[in-house]
Amino acid sequence: MPYVNTMDILEKAHKEYYAVAAFNINNLEFLQAIIEGGLEKRSPLIIETSEGAMKYAGMGDPLRGARVFVNMVREFADSMDIPIALHLDHGKDFNYILAAIKAGYSSVMIDASDKPFEENMQSTKEIVKIAHAVGVSVEAELGKLAGIEDNVVSAETVLVNPDEAKQFVEETGVDFLAPAIGTSHGAFKFKGEAKLDYDRLKKVKELTGIPLVLHGASSVVQEMVEIAERYGADFGGSKGVPSEILKETVKLGINKVNTDTDLRMAFIAGLREFLHNDSKEFDPRKYMKTAKKYVTKVVSDRLELLGSAGKA
Ligand code: G3H
Ligand code: 13P
Ligand code: ZN
Repeated sequence: MPYVNTMDILEKAHKEYYAVAAFNINNLEFLQAIIEGGLEKRSPLIIETSEGAMKYAGMGDPLRGARVFVNMVREFADSMDIPIALHLDHGKDFNYILAAIKAGYSSVMIDASDKPFEENMQSTKEIVKIAHAVGVSVEAELGKLAGIEDNVVSAETVLVNPDEAKQFVEETGVDFLAPAIGTSHGAFKFKGEAKLDYDRLKKVKELTGIPLVLHGASSVVQEMVEIAERYGADFGGSKGVPSEILKETVKLGINKVNTDTDLRMAFIAGLREFLHNDSKEFDPRKYMKTAKKYVTKVVSDRLELLGSAGKA
């Protein structure tokens, strides 16, 4: 199956009411582990990189980093029989977004969600025009993701306004949208009970009718936290979005579920376990084996949970 446009994957998910996980990578090993999970579950895959990942992979040069990722992902995609797309996550700097487009990413996110509504719309329109001209699809974000403490949305969090979402989608022509409904990035999402604004999500779906994205969607997998902590990590107080809540958001119209933290935690759990049990090994291909195995397990479980297993 060739390297595909992200919309090819998301259109189908949107029509059939399931979601595809989008997994963040920074290097080859995470990509290999994710592909392993996708093949095992016969699922389409969206691979994504942050601007930071582009800079990291390119040794300070984002365009070079973008090319590294495109070459890696294309090379696997072209010889695999599941659809695979490459997406730029949280593009905030036009130079990075243009570099991703130039390098051949399947889609880009323009994240101007910290700007006033009109400015967010303007920036999104500009990127949509450039990206669509070369067959690249675009994600934007409305509302702001921040921390939630004791179920009180913190001062910086602004949940999406559904009427604004409708206007935004109509005027910008954006392909898929991330509405803020109460999640946050990282491993410490909720202090009390996990809670998202389902009504708001439902309204955004009804009013926009396009694929929707859930950011900050890691579950903070307890099994991985326990393994990591058994071998020296301290992830006290970590909490993610429970599986039942993720399933509910998929029923209400989420089609892309961004996942980074869960993979990072799985990798570190495996790495710590291996290094604890083998003090002599120094070949990275061997000491990363358990880490990759745990990443693949988290990937496979997530693809199954979100309903994309068997959809490739
Ligand atoms: O949403 C952000 C992703 O988790 C990537 O984070 O900037 O540390 O690569 P990063
Ligand atoms: P997590 O930190 O919950 O994995 O979220 C990742 C994300 O939203 C990337 O855009
Ligand atoms: Zn995000």
